[in-house]
Amino acid sequence: MERTYIKDLKNHIGKEVTIAGWVDIRRDQGKMVFLDLRDMSGKVQAVVLPNHTEALAVAQIIRPEWVVEVNAQVNRRPERNVKLDVSNGDIELEVLNIVVLNEAQTPPMDVTSDGHEIGEETRLKYRYLDLRRPRLQRNMRLRHEVALHIRNFLSKHSFLEIETPLLTKSTPEGSRDYIVPSRIEQGKFYALPQSPQQYKQLLMVAGMERYFQIARCMRDEDTRGDRQPEFTQLDMELSFTTQEDIMKLNEKLLIELVQTLAPEKKIQTIPFPRITYKEAMEKYGNDKPDMREDKNDPNLLAFCWVVDFPFFEKNKAGEWTFTHNPFSAPMPEHYEWLMNKEKIGEILATQYDVALNGYEIGGGSIRNHRPEALIKVLEILGHTEENIRKNFGHMLDAFSYGAPPHGGIAWGLDRLLAILTNEPNIREVIAFPKTGEGRDLMMEAPSEVSAEQLQELGIVVVKSKK
Ligand code: AMO
Repeated sequence: MERTYIKDLKNHIGKEVTIAGWVDIRRDQGKMVFLDLRDMSGKVQAVVLPNHTEALAVAQIIRPEWVVEVNAQVNRRPERNVKLDVSNGDIELEVLNIVVLNEAQTPPMDVTSDGHEIGEETRLKYRYLDLRRPRLQRNMRLRHEVALHIRNFLSKHSFLEIETPLLTKSTPEGSRDYIVPSRIEQGKFYALPQSPQQYKQLLMVAGMERYFQIARCMRDEDTRGDRQPEFTQLDMELSFTTQEDIMKLNEKLLIELVQTLAPEKKIQTIPFPRITYKEAMEKYGNDKPDMREDKNDPNLLAFCWVVDFPFFEKNKAGEWTFTHNPFSAPMPEHYEWLMNKEKIGEILATQYDVALNGYEIGGGSIRNHRPEALIKVLEILGHTEENIRKNFGHMLDAFSYGAPPHGGIAWGLDRLLAILTNEPNIREVIAFPKTGEGRDLMMEAPSEVSAEQLQELGIVVVKSKK
């Protein structure tokens, strides 16, 4: 008999069905056994009555988290037993037959609760069990729906989703790279991308005009609640565009997404307020202001744009460094300053960040599409001519073959999802996150590799003192 999903049982009242899933809860009352059964679509209560002796014998031995296939009659519950606040609270299954598809050990933690009471070590070590809990099932579902919505929206707006390499060369995004040794060229390394920044700009040179990607990014930095070493961006880049176009398009997508997928949320101000970096620092003391009028309201979303960022700032050693992205263009009115390398500290970038409830959830800029402007930026950052050629030669070459004016943005998708689900930590919206120390407790990564593997790569491990 064809399997019926639990969410669809209400369409089969009075009929016999087959469902498959897990035993969520079992209550043995001796003469009969009550079971709550669960699949990816929902839960339902089932009862095994004394007259179904074979089914009852099985029901007496099965335990929570066993996997079963159940044949049952779908009955309407008597009026007095109807529970309107529970899914399938108006029906009940009368079990005819149970087949055990797999047994389960007693789980190391409760997987039916919201999990807040359980230590994170256990949760992450047994993440495949942790993900069974309804809260995480909901988070994963929302994540899927958000990605799907983004894909449909951008596709309607003529964007192409294009994948870019993971094995690549270091991108100067401001963090430390994860590197991967090359076997064929011993002593050489790939870098994992901190973002698809360079590839997406090269796709603009390639005439793709509107690119997006739900892209995995890797940064070897200390993990925090809103930071993972491996995270996901909604990354996009557009040709023949303006800062205003990109901000409007992204604002429209964010609003549509919230209104469709999180209708319980209220967006405080539409259109999103805009604030300059200077004002934000003066008024809020940071560049991702929390503009919520009521910080106790879990359903209030205060988006805002932060603009007019300084392009360069001095680091501790007194050298110029970029504040966001070395590929950004300066504000048009500051272009001459850049080209003359004057008033460096006053040059503003065409950078726009989007903040939500005190988190930076995205950022982007218009880029320098002329090679001479990019060279000036790199010179100010202290790169020698030789270094520029070596590290950025491919970009400069590409820009010399008719690069269109272009710009883009990337959202931190995990951060947006954490806020939409009211989760305090992005780990709650990532299927397999890493701990604060960057460990995957379930896979036990990072881990040592065999002597043969190291030898093949020409690598000798020398532990540096920390
Ligand atoms: P940026 O470095 O600002 O820009 O990254 C864009 C957004 O990604 C999110 N983010 C993170 N989320 C989780 N864990 C992390 N470690 C982490 N680091 C960043 C933030 C941030 O706003 N290439 C440019 C974008 C562009 O200019 O188009 C870039 O990567 O929400």
